[in-house]
Amino acid sequence: MLFFASSILLAAVASARPSRILYRDGPIEVGGFKVQAANRIIPVVVGGPQDTFVPNTVKASVGDIIQFQFSNGNHTVTQSAKDAPCKPLEGGIHSGHIPFEDGQTTVGTFNMPVTNADVMFLYCATGPHCQEGQVMVVNPTDDQQIVDYAKGSQSTTESVDGTTVNGGTVASIPLEAAAFVPAPAEEEPPAGAPPAADPPAADPPAAEAPAAPPAESSAASSAAPADATSAAAPAATSIPGTTTTTITVPAATATPAAAA
Ligand SMILES: *[C@@H]1O[C@H](CO)[C@@H](O)[C@H](O)[C@H]1NC(C)=O
Repeated sequence: MLFFASSILLAAVASARPSRILYRDGPIEVGGFKVQAANRIIPVVVGGPQDTFVPNTVKASVGDIIQFQFSNGNHTVTQSAKDAPCKPLEGGIHSGHIPFEDGQTTVGTFNMPVTNADVMFLYCATGPHCQEGQVMVVNPTDDQQIVDYAKGSQSTTESVDGTTVNGGTVASIPLEAAAFVPAPAEEEPPAGAPPAADPPAADPPAAEAPAAPPAESSAASSAAPADATSAAAPAATSIPGTTTTTITVPAATATPAAAA
């Protein structure tokens, strides 16, 4: 079951088959920006079992939309200057804090139109995430840039939060259409116990063994990851669905992929 990007990528454009790369004529307005030409949607997963961006480097063209999909935790996408990691660039990108909690069936997104080919340095402004390496680079000029930027972020002592949402549109997609599987639901820690920090993903499949009744109504939180695993797998190979995105675009026509 695939969720195609029906509202952002017009059904008319995708009449033959929805593909990864769609082209349209004429400008569209997305998140306050006029965007022309190619309209690739590039998913980037923010957070999850670890505080990361996946991938943490992206090559994007003008007209592409980078769709940040917010997994577990409470994260931001915030732009900094190259040499000032973990501090917002004046007038730069900022998504605001977008959480994902156990049991959610939708995924918060930040759709960022790429309006120029310049290198962009991005970080998460939540807590110590930037110092822990939750940083990424859009259109790096070489492979060393993300390494240097991460090292720079680790040498800071604290992050500065962004202020107003800028440079994109906050929206949401169905969990089934997301490019990630959420972390297993956390169990209530016993009173006084430290928060569980072990990576459950590496555990043997014992967690799925207990034959519990379908948890749809009784224990949705513990069953959510299992459901998501099967449902999300096929979607990860296609364009993440954007059926609930708030982006609207005018009519467009399709032209053949140039260099795909
Ligand atoms: C996310 O983090 C921000 C900043 O720390 C905070 O204001 C907000 O309440 C948090 N949201 C949730 C759902 O935890």
